[in-house]
Amino acid sequence: MTPEPQREGRRVADSATEMTQLVLPQHANVHGSLLGGTVMHWVDLAAAIVANRHSRRPVVTAAFDEMAFLAPVMVGQVALIHARMTLVDKSSMEIRVDVVSEDVLTGERRKTGTAFVTFVALDPVTRRPSTVPPLVLESAEEKAEHVRALERRRLRLERRKAHTQN
Ligand SMILES: CC(C)(COP(=O)(O)OP(=O)(O)OC[C@H]1O[C@@H](n2cnc3c(N)ncnc32)[C@H](O)[C@@H]1OP(=O)(O)O)[C@@H](O)C(=O)NCCC(=O)NCCS
Repeated sequence: MTPEPQREGRRVADSATEMTQLVLPQHANVHGSLLGGTVMHWVDLAAAIVANRHSRRPVVTAAFDEMAFLAPVMVGQVALIHARMTLVDKSSMEIRVDVVSEDVLTGERRKTGTAFVTFVALDPVTRRPSTVPPLVLESAEEKAEHVRALERRRLRLERRKAHTQN
């Protein structure tokens, strides 16, 4: 593991990202709503930006968990993708991504999906996992999400172990 010289903590707000996408026909499935794979692509991109901002390192997706599709986003609506850091370990980072639809005519917003994405920071030269700055938790909500993230991480690492054994 390549050590990170800069160990100063970074706040959740320092890396939080919001992406806004107008849903066009080219993004749609046969039902006229946003294709699930396109949602996951946007979720992956928003999470990557959070991981890059926090670590200031090259990052790769290590795991994509619990992508829940709660409601469709229709063509002509706006998809808002909110991504924020929930947990930082040595080189790995968990990012929570919430997807919200917005009707451009009424302004009505609806939560349509959530995912938890794990990124790993790499040393730019060796391309091996590299330690990242600690996460500074400020609000009660950030602290509560972090407690839930610790349990998700435990389950994720159990699954990883099971997958690598089979
Ligand atoms: C992710 C990757 C760099 C990990 O490398 P590795 O040699 O397995 O390294 P390690 O076992 O030391 O793991 C490094 C960190 O990644 C975490 N990690 C690796 N795989 C993971 C998984 N499936 N789920 C959660 N965390 C994972 C480890 O827990 C460890 O975290 P820590 O440093 O915070 O303790 C490597 O598996 C890889 O390159 N995967 C392909 C990535 C990719 O191509 N993504 C899609 C395109 S971006």
